[in-house]
Amino acid sequence: MPLLEIRDLNVRFGTEARALHAVRGIDLDVGADEVVAIVGESGSGKSVTMLSVLGLLGPSARASGSIVFDGIDLLDASPATLRGIRGRRIGVVFQDPMTSLNPAHTVGHQLAEAVRIHQRGDRGNATRRAAELLELVSISDVGRRLRNYPHELSGGMRQRVMIAMALANDPELLIADEPTTALDVTIQAQILDVLASVQRERKLAVVLVTHDLGVVAGLAQRVVVMYGGRVVEQGGVVDVFHRHHHPYTRGLLACLPRLDRRHDLVPIGGAPPSLDQLPGGCAFHPRCPVAIDRCRTEAPELLPRGSTSAACHVAAMPVAIGNGATP
Ligand SMILES: Nc1ncnc2c1ncn2[C@@H]1O[C@H](COP(=O)(O)OP(=O)(O)O)[C@@H](O)[C@H]1O
Ligand code: SF4
Ligand SMILES: [Mg+2]
Repeated sequence: MPLLEIRDLNVRFGTEARALHAVRGIDLDVGADEVVAIVGESGSGKSVTMLSVLGLLGPSARASGSIVFDGIDLLDASPATLRGIRGRRIGVVFQDPMTSLNPAHTVGHQLAEAVRIHQRGDRGNATRRAAELLELVSISDVGRRLRNYPHELSGGMRQRVMIAMALANDPELLIADEPTTALDVTIQAQILDVLASVQRERKLAVVLVTHDLGVVAGLAQRVVVMYGGRVVEQGGVVDVFHRHHHPYTRGLLACLPRLDRRHDLVPIGGAPPSLDQLPGGCAFHPRCPVAIDRCRTEAPELLPRGSTSAACHVAAMPVAIGNGATP
């Protein structure tokens, strides 16, 4: 049984009369020690899916379906149960460390507090643990860093501190939502290396949420592609890169810069749809280069297509698009 099992998750915001249907029937499994990437353009429902797991959706949201973490249904769990799981058994790293770190306290104080919230022990133990955590995320000169305030650190260093905080209580699952998006490319690579090494060392399950398929190759074992609040394709990372079936996945890959390719990058035409004006049929049809009539009226189901599962009418045809194509 997977560590995290999401079934038919639907999330709506607003009133019954005027609801925004942000997440539409998501199924997702994450095994212990597995790294799963959730990829899709902005607004596809990635963060809402993760906030549902964390019980942080807020009062205007209604979620249905089930989210089972190690046998506990998080959608049904009491606030006290959720507090015991969030930050302890499930760690989380968000995009912008400045919003998550307290500017008024030192890094050492905040790390020690994160340890003490969930674990008994004296302040000395918590401080020793804070130093260990900084070493775990490859921060040098730990003594000095513990005395620094967040504004004294670079963006990359702050994100390392956030990863250290998320690991403070030895979680089984780490959710990293766009952890490198605010950073420049060199620092992005360093942060991904830190995530990969702590994942290996701690045998963590990780959900890596990103709009950039380029960052998942070295880290994820499985990739889930979202569009318009749905999963449109999922599979092993090599299959999604090289034997995908969905035109949207192909479009995301065509936007990626590659060293072995000279030709221009091809952005996906058009913009992602607003969820309150989602097109009927396949939500991708206005932007899809291979759409057929049926795509305008009938939503495709996510079905196994050999190498991956894909939700696409054309991929289901005998001569399928993308099949065997190397991006
Ligand atoms: N609290 C909220 N109230 C209303 N709509 C929301 C709220 N949070 C997210 N949404 C909407 O849900 C959709 C999906 O958002 P999100 O999951 O943040 O996308 P992603 O993380 O893939 O960029 C967006 O249209 C967003 O505006
Ligand atoms: S179902 Fe149709 S519109 Fe949607 S991705 Fe497939 S071909 Fe394109
Ligand atoms: Mg997001």
